[in-house]
Amino acid sequence: MANSEYEYVKREFEYDRHLPPSNWIVVRIDGCHFHRFSKIHAFEKPNDENALNLMNDCATAMLEKFPDIVFAYGVSDEYSFVFREETQFYHRRESKILSLCVSYFTSVYVMKWKDFFPNKELKEPPYFDARAVCYPNLKTIRDYLAWRQVDCHINNQYNTCFWMLVKSGKSEQEAQLALKGTFAKDKNELLAQQFQIKYDDEPAMFRKGSSVYREKVETTVKTDDYGNPIKRPRLKVTVAHIDIIGPEFWENHQHILREGKFMLEFVKKIGIGHMLPPCNWIVIRINACQFDQFSIMHSFDKPNDETALRLMNASASLMMERYPDIVFGYGFSNEYSFVFHEKTELYQRQESQILSSCSSCFTSLYMTKWKEFFPKKELVQTPRFEAEALCCPKLKIVCEYLSWRQAECHAANQYDTCFWMLVKSGKSEKEAHEILKGTLSKDKNELLFHQFQMNYNNEPVMFRKGSCIYQQKVEELSGAEGGNNGTRERWDVKVDHVDLGPGFWQKHPLIMTNC
Ligand code: GTP
Ligand code: MG
Repeated sequence: MANSEYEYVKREFEYDRHLPPSNWIVVRIDGCHFHRFSKIHAFEKPNDENALNLMNDCATAMLEKFPDIVFAYGVSDEYSFVFREETQFYHRRESKILSLCVSYFTSVYVMKWKDFFPNKELKEPPYFDARAVCYPNLKTIRDYLAWRQVDCHINNQYNTCFWMLVKSGKSEQEAQLALKGTFAKDKNELLAQQFQIKYDDEPAMFRKGSSVYREKVETTVKTDDYGNPIKRPRLKVTVAHIDIIGPEFWENHQHILREGKFMLEFVKKIGIGHMLPPCNWIVIRINACQFDQFSIMHSFDKPNDETALRLMNASASLMMERYPDIVFGYGFSNEYSFVFHEKTELYQRQESQILSSCSSCFTSLYMTKWKEFFPKKELVQTPRFEAEALCCPKLKIVCEYLSWRQAECHAANQYDTCFWMLVKSGKSEKEAHEILKGTLSKDKNELLFHQFQMNYNNEPVMFRKGSCIYQQKVEELSGAEGGNNGTRERWDVKVDHVDLGPGFWQKHPLIMTNC
């Protein structure tokens, strides 16, 4: 299993970038295509209070979930999360941190949508990308946050003027012209003179953005013998719309950006995004976190829940539609690998953005498709998926990688089938593990056959082989409807459960080259 002949593809090709130590880590999440998303959902312009409050609730959930996030700042469709300087969260592995953050954020966004928009249906799955940047000291991290708040001010002041002009009858082009080259002072005057608006009276959330942090609050912990409350300061996650450019807030909240014990010996370079090498096939592997717990909470069948697997396949098929550069997908259990064409220019091949947007999009699709597959089961826990990237310089290595995942599928499924048969027959889980310890594939097949009269090879093929998805030509029209040469091809996503050996690739020579 772990040492199969294919396993070298993990050892030799998987990226494992660790973010440098003793740096504050900022994960900045940004809504993908939120211009369109806000239009489709008729967000108010320029600021939709509900949409912003939903973002703030997601950020609050992040601080409650991940204790190493010490501060968050959000505006519009973006949120920055600051991890404490010495964090050892996932050993500072960039791909883990990014994918988990963005996937959890997306999950909460979808889950809480109806709390903020009870009368608006979610028309398309929202998703976000993320990048991680490292800041070596207190000055640079403070400057980073100040930069985001200055940006918020500039954009909001411009947008406020722009939409007031448009609402007063100007065309969008005229409004743009009227604002061209104006300074902050001019815009304030325009608002005051033409619309009797004092910019400083606009809601603080719009002008200052939202800061999320732990605030000391006096909380009653118990009562004394006379019934008097005994209070202690406790840290509570708080959202505020305050100035974070000046020193005042930070002087009053010194616990937030406390520097670690070790001083830096030298100033590290500010992190630059990592580019995946050109002309390499990119594989993004998505994997559900704490899936054991998730499957218990939703009473999935053991060892395989067919509906849950079909939901994974449906989400993966939609991924292929959303990312045309994905040429192949392979999944089993709670994971899916997506192969991007070697020439993909998605996000200029920036690793962090590719893997974060994939993990977020997959989470969102999984959640929005949930009720179609489980109409009677409420989604009671937020699913989240981590993602990793792998680079394969040759197609042969991609195929070996896929064979490796299929070997894992086989080994895991054969073990789990035996394990659950033994448990169902009355053995304890410990006894079942003991019985299976050190057994080979052949032994397991024999155990199933002799003890349970089961032929492993007759088990459903989706469980044994996993699922692969790829584009398949389904129809060729000729004549008037056809393209230039008289024929037109239509490609559909096909879900298949087959052996990914050389025979498969010979039969489908075009899969990996089409996109
Ligand atoms: P990418 O991030 O590159 O995928 O594009 P994007 O469309 O998300 O644009 P960008 O992140 O640069 O800007 C965010 C966009 O979200 C803004 O241009 C707005 O159109 C939209 N948006 C964010 N918040 C609000 C809001 O409160 N109301 C409205 N109407 N639109 C908003
Ligand atoms: Mg955006």
